[in-house]
Amino acid sequence: MDAVSCFEKKTDDTIAFVDLKRQHEECATDIETVVQSVLARGAFILGEEVRKFEQEFAAVCGARHCVGVGSGLDALFLAMKGLGISAGDEVILPANTFIATALAVTHTGATPVLVDHDPHSWNIDPRRIRQAVTSRTRAIIPVHLYGRPADMDAIVAIAEELNLDVIEDACQAHGAAYRGRCVGSIGRAAAFSFYPGKNLGAAGDAGAVVTNDAELAEWLRRARNYGSHVKYHHGMLGFNSRLDNLQAAILRAKLPHLARWNERRRLIAEQYREGLRDLPIHLPEEAADSQHVFHLFVIRCEGRDAMLNFLKSRHIDAGIHYPVPIHHQPAYADGCVTRGPLTYTEMFADHLLSLPIHPHLTDGEVQRVIAAVHEFCEARGAVYKVVQRSRRDVLPTVASRPADSAALAPTGAPQP
Ligand SMILES: Cc1ncc(COP(=O)(O)O)c(C=O)c1O
Repeated sequence: MDAVSCFEKKTDDTIAFVDLKRQHEECATDIETVVQSVLARGAFILGEEVRKFEQEFAAVCGARHCVGVGSGLDALFLAMKGLGISAGDEVILPANTFIATALAVTHTGATPVLVDHDPHSWNIDPRRIRQAVTSRTRAIIPVHLYGRPADMDAIVAIAEELNLDVIEDACQAHGAAYRGRCVGSIGRAAAFSFYPGKNLGAAGDAGAVVTNDAELAEWLRRARNYGSHVKYHHGMLGFNSRLDNLQAAILRAKLPHLARWNERRRLIAEQYREGLRDLPIHLPEEAADSQHVFHLFVIRCEGRDAMLNFLKSRHIDAGIHYPVPIHHQPAYADGCVTRGPLTYTEMFADHLLSLPIHPHLTDGEVQRVIAAVHEFCEARGAVYKVVQRSRRDVLPTVASRPADSAALAPTGAPQP
């Protein structure tokens, strides 16, 4: 989740982590028109805008159904409830994700089982999933983290073999594609968040479930609305989690910009890759078979906190996604299990740094970020030389990855 403070402009020349003011300037006329129209009609709950947005967003995802709900957390939670996931079940997810992925599992009564990610894609490692499966496992949640699609072919193959559901957490990956297929259309269901700072963001909280499963979509339409299809008739114990008409209208006004904004994010990522490639930092690897949408541009570096502070001193907002893995959060002191070593999750948490990559950054601002990172690395040159010599101990390369036989051996009982 992007901190709200990121949205506040601190000084005139601050490079904001997310700049919703500039985004609004680009679509202000369209948004003001549709907002006025909804206000004038006085139709706020489950109206025409919601229905149209659901159709349009389903089409963007290449899926048959979209059901708008209150948030990304609700989308994950309701999708799992609709699939019958409940107490006694286990759901496997990556340890490095926003806490909402785990919370959604917990709120169904099931247990989140955290596994490590792959050090190249930084997405959930399918081999770790296979190891973590028990007779209680019901589903897998691959998170398309930072906007890069997870290894869906391998994940779907495991799920089909073991009869598990796949619920994509696409909250950071609007418009991303994996081997020619849009994320959101690959698993049994997918959850999207339209939190304001997302690649497609509302003017408040909002989310959606996307699915090809007509029965699940029908269940979700009732579940989000007090379990009701006909007013005051309740066939099930439902919830109140409706995408509201104003948010849907705003999302419809922004949706035509999504592809271009994502393209701009990719161009900025290219500039970062080019400008930072000689420095002793790890850059996100190319995803040859997928379309990354760079919700975040996350690097790995030594002296992360010092770099963060240095960038701040240069009026550049950066972030950390995420500083504390879920299993170290006090909220999850006893509520989740980890399976298999979390080598990369543990090792990366202190080294991750997200550079600003919103689509309204100017080329000049991107160059300012690159120059500041250079300046920082040059100032710490001596330290970096030491780090580079001992890099195998500090930042694992593929070669230093534990051999499959050892690292992927059966793990036995869940670790607390
Ligand atoms: C990976 C991931 N999952 C789930 C969520 C939850 O979305 P929301 O904030 O709309 O509830 C987020 C949002 O920050 C997210 O980044």
